Amino acid sequence: MTDAGPVELVVNGTRHEVACDPDTPLLYVLRNDLGLVGAKFGCGLGLCGACNVLVDGHPTHSCDTPVWAVAGKQVTTVEGLGGHPLQGTFVEEQALQCGYCTSGMLVTAAALLEREPEVDDDGVRRALDGNLCRCGAHNRIVRAVLGARPCGR
Ligand code: FES
Repeated sequence: MTDAGPVELVVNGTRHEVACDPDTPLLYVLRNDLGLVGAKFGCGLGLCGACNVLVDGHPTHSCDTPVWAVAGKQVTTVEGLGGHPLQGTFVEEQALQCGYCTSGMLVTAAALLEREPEVDDDGVRRALDGNLCRCGAHNRIVRAVLGARPCGR
């Protein structure tokens, strides 16, 4: 779809109308038009998860999702997670180093805990398989996700 004209989207519960080419990647609209810079550009190819946001609750690569594809859907960025327990456990476990992957990790993990609140270690590792951390903080990230479960560790 390449019809010109404003695109309507709902991000973190707020409706926006953005004047852009509807084929523009969602990531660019979030960062450049809406000022939501939590999601990061990593590979640009749907391979690293740094750009992940939730679309109707599902982790989605915003780098290769055209903005027209999210019309009528609920987009949640890391800014929209509010005071999610993951934010505290990531700090407690020091589950990041450079922090570039953290936004994608947080939204992916939040979706996981929503659909599987009693997930185990293996389940966390499987769910985060598509989120790369170049600093090697994966074990601390897994501990942080496990710690954010309603049942704790
Ligand atoms: Fe989107 Fe890597 S930047 S998956």
